[in-house]
Amino acid sequence: MREKVLIVDFGGQYVHLIARRCRELGVYSEVVDFARLKEVNLKDYSALVLSGGPKSVSEEGAPTVDQEVLRTGLPVLGICYGHQLIAKLMGGRVERSALREYGRTEVEVVGESVLFAGLGRRQVVWMSHGDVVLEPPPGFRVTAVSEKGAIAAMEDPDRGIYSVQFHPEVRHTENGTRILENFLRMAAGLRERWSPVDRVQEIMEEIRRSVRPGEAVICGVSGGIDSVTTALILHRVVGDDLHVVFVDHGLMRKGEVEEVLEALKGLGIRNVHFVDARSRFLQALKGVVDPEEKRKVIGRLFAEVFKEVARTVPNARYLAQGTIYPDRVESGATGSATSVIKSHHNVGGLPRDLGLDLIEPLRDLYKDEVRVVARALGVPERIVRRHPFPGPGLAVRVIGEVTEEKLEVCRAASAIVEEELERAGLYDSVWQAFAVVGEDRWVGVKGDEREHGRIVVVRIVTSEDGMTADWFRASHELLDRISRRITNEVPGVTMVCYAISSKPPATIEPC
Ligand code: XMP
Repeated sequence: MREKVLIVDFGGQYVHLIARRCRELGVYSEVVDFARLKEVNLKDYSALVLSGGPKSVSEEGAPTVDQEVLRTGLPVLGICYGHQLIAKLMGGRVERSALREYGRTEVEVVGESVLFAGLGRRQVVWMSHGDVVLEPPPGFRVTAVSEKGAIAAMEDPDRGIYSVQFHPEVRHTENGTRILENFLRMAAGLRERWSPVDRVQEIMEEIRRSVRPGEAVICGVSGGIDSVTTALILHRVVGDDLHVVFVDHGLMRKGEVEEVLEALKGLGIRNVHFVDARSRFLQALKGVVDPEEKRKVIGRLFAEVFKEVARTVPNARYLAQGTIYPDRVESGATGSATSVIKSHHNVGGLPRDLGLDLIEPLRDLYKDEVRVVARALGVPERIVRRHPFPGPGLAVRVIGEVTEEKLEVCRAASAIVEEELERAGLYDSVWQAFAVVGEDRWVGVKGDEREHGRIVVVRIVTSEDGMTADWFRASHELLDRISRRITNEVPGVTMVCYAISSKPPATIEPC
């Protein structure tokens, strides 16, 4: 059985970071909501992490776990809320405290601990909590204290239980990765070196066992790395029984349609059903201004077009979709069921009534792991590196009604933003970079002519997972080049603005 870590989610904002860090350290990990822990067979796991969470352990109805969970003999690491919960469940003293410590703090290692093996006495860590543990539970010893005297780390190595008040998973904790590694390798004694490519090999085996020769698998591709990688995995297993459906809704980035068609050809995928549905989408979007309505119109029409094509594929039995792990977690579809083939959930909005069983080969992987797999399989570098792009495409980057003219401005200006970032060597350092166009206008002078032109908003953000994001501190020189090029090269634009709100409160996309 493969070594796996189970991360119990109490609603903390960093829970997926913990999972990703474990995987980066070569240990496969899964996240489960605390309320569904009972559905999980703990015997399938080799270690447990109790994550952070926004509540106070002393609040009525605060999330908790059965005490027995701490008595299974599995090594446990409690982080922040998890640390306080361990203290509370095992008889320590936790208080809502005036000692509130947020952000970057120093802690002092005061006892021998494998968690801090190889590290100095003083550690810079990231704190984010309201409760503190004032007394450890019986049998525990304190191994680190904070500047204000709170218990920053404690452990009972005999029972294999360790906990820290700070967040080792965030980069601000300078030796956080080492602390996690010490827990996984030294405290929990895990030995395996997992890589996302291993998972894909297992998945290919499962598909091979389930799909019989002659049964067609339909796979929608959008041009994004997830769907192209999904198609390629299926192609490797079922060959020409794979039928790729590629709907051009007219909302793609510049050059994307040609690039994707070219890539599919290059990868040896022969059955490509390409549909030019640009005018149908534009027609359907006429007069639609509400962001949610826009998404609904696109989703409905996409499903309709997809269905029309899918019905023409003989002997179709399966629908392959590029759902990745965070998509499933957000839709509440995670749990102990790990089979890659399921028919009962469909988070991507593709039609349910096709009567096809769903195959989701990337369902257990994070975005950066998909990149690793894509490279290993030979997906063109341009597609691997390209920033994430929303399903409804440029329609969510056009504020108000979607028109051909606004789409053209958005597409051309976005291409300039991407090109300039590439040229500055910054493309891979940011999460997304694009242009937005709305209804507002600005009077300009071009030559001797006055022009009532459009305003383009440039949005460049950094992020680890798209859930939170910060605006990118672009240099004035870079912004100047982007602005000049957009006003010079994109007809009808007289003003360029830079979006400087982080997420939260703003979302990344404007619609
Ligand atoms: P927001 O705008 O909510 O976006 O901050 C977070 C991340 O999700 C992407 N996004 C989408 N991706 N379908 C997708 O596949 C969508 O409808 C969608 N809406 C937003 C967005 O690009 C960002 O990376």
